[in-house]
Amino acid sequence: MNLEGTSIVEGSTELLVPLVISEKGPGKVQGRVFFNRQMAFNRDVSVTMFHSVIRPRKCLDAMAATGARGIRICKEATGDFRFVINDKDSLACEYIGENIRRNGLENAEVSNADLRCLLADQVFDYVDLDPFGTPIPFVPAALQGLTRKGILAVTATDTASLSGTHPGKCRRRYMGNSQRNPFLHESGLRIMIGTVVRMAAQLDKGVTPLLCYYADHYFRLFLSIKDGAGAADRSLEQLGMMSYDRNTGERKIGEGKMGPMWLGPLMDHEAMSKAEVPEGLACAERTKQHFDIWKEELDVPFYYETNEIASMLKLSPPGRDELLAAMGGIGKVSRTNFSPTGFRTDRPLEEVLETFRSIAL
Ligand SMILES: C[S@@+](CC[C@H](N)C(=O)[O-])C[C@H]1O[C@@H](n2cnc3c(N)ncnc32)[C@H](O)[C@@H]1O
Repeated sequence: MNLEGTSIVEGSTELLVPLVISEKGPGKVQGRVFFNRQMAFNRDVSVTMFHSVIRPRKCLDAMAATGARGIRICKEATGDFRFVINDKDSLACEYIGENIRRNGLENAEVSNADLRCLLADQVFDYVDLDPFGTPIPFVPAALQGLTRKGILAVTATDTASLSGTHPGKCRRRYMGNSQRNPFLHESGLRIMIGTVVRMAAQLDKGVTPLLCYYADHYFRLFLSIKDGAGAADRSLEQLGMMSYDRNTGERKIGEGKMGPMWLGPLMDHEAMSKAEVPEGLACAERTKQHFDIWKEELDVPFYYETNEIASMLKLSPPGRDELLAAMGGIGKVSRTNFSPTGFRTDRPLEEVLETFRSIAL
């Protein structure tokens, strides 16, 4: 059969993608088989993680569409792994097969199944979920289909439900309360991790974030999942509630109506210190910048927005470098990938405000 499509090169991988594709945003379903060019950065991060941070052997790209992610990892990352590249749509599988052939891959095979059937039958060291919208309906199957120490990678594009725009949806899907606030993507991401932690605990599994982040229009999670009641209990201990007061800017952790959410680190800094961005990625500069910031980013929840504080104090915001230098004089401070104008610090809010007043225009 002659597959209709366009040949593109993403990173150093050649891909046949459908004639109609998404260029940007959450990716409305345009044709039967999906491809979103803007997700190239998301795939670059996956390639970098396989190249230098994680070492799973038997891997599943469970919702692969054209196979772009799994195929790029097989072509561009070094390592001793094999990928099953799966989609329940038979036409998607035609593209996957063609893309495996085009890149001459020997470490990838195509599979045409509902991921829930596949994961009831086989176990994997790495499972990647990348649905339209919420991944929650697929998480139980993925957790059950992981080996005793596996990695679950998840993309979620329903950021609005998690970040306070649709609190009812958040309660139903994520069993948590969200609220709009200046750090809404961090609170949303933490609610999502918290939900996976609770689902894993039901199966006596513990969860440790390897790298969890927000970019463009989605949340992305790489989670290390370990069997054991003790591991599950330790993960549950890191869940809690929080509150945000829009008049004072105060974030109170451990009490409040937002949550439950994950309050532990969003990444494993020891693992991430090994990250090396390979040559030839699609968004090489952006990927390098993000890994540089992740490596330095403090583990303190929750970040501050320069504009949030400026408008609270009715002052013009100072430049970020000036602010980072001033905050660095009184404590620890770092940039954050959540926002180009955001920063994290271990100092209390009153010291942040004082420093701000001393340098603001
Ligand atoms: C957002 S697309 C995946 C995009 C792809 N990972 C990429 O990087 O381009 C979601 C895919 O999941 C597939 N899908 C949905 N439900 C599924 C299921 N239960 N089992 C397997 N595949 C499924 C759809 O057919 C669709 O191709």
